[in-house]
Amino acid sequence: MSRRRYVEKGLILPKGTQCMTSVYHIHRDKQEWGLNADEFNPDNFLQENMIGRNPNVYLPFSTGLRKCLGANYGLNAMKTILAYVILKYEFKTSTKLNEQVVSTGLHNVKFEISERKVKSV
Ligand code: HEM
Repeated sequence: MSRRRYVEKGLILPKGTQCMTSVYHIHRDKQEWGLNADEFNPDNFLQENMIGRNPNVYLPFSTGLRKCLGANYGLNAMKTILAYVILKYEFKTSTKLNEQVVSTGLHNVKFEISERKVKSV
């Protein structure tokens, strides 16, 4: 796969050429996310760290005219659900967060889940 970031000016693609972007690689592009692009770092999304960042380098909901219509709803629903779950339960794991876990998801990670003792609101 070509690592070229931009299509050359004036380049003519033959009719029927299929083009694709790799969201996986865009999400790990060191030029956009810094040298530690492979690390899970929620601080990447702090307001001050988002200043000047190209809005098209984070694409869970795609981008452009056909981007997800439910993007804001989806994101807010996930944050709300996660906040409630963390408020009520405690999660423990001996698995260290690494590139493998971040890229393949939590499918094979074992958690110990217990109800929090503190009263929730
Ligand atoms: C975490 C939740 C969600 C994720 C990760 C997600 C992701 C996406 C992605 C990547 C696309 C573009 C697909 C493509 O390029 O062909 C898309 C399209 C779409 N999504 Fe979502 N979505 C989510 C939730 C929702 C919700 C809750 C709704 C509606 C309430 C919704 C409605 C749509 C619609 C209508 C499109 C098609 C837009 C179009 O083609 O013009 N999505 N979604």
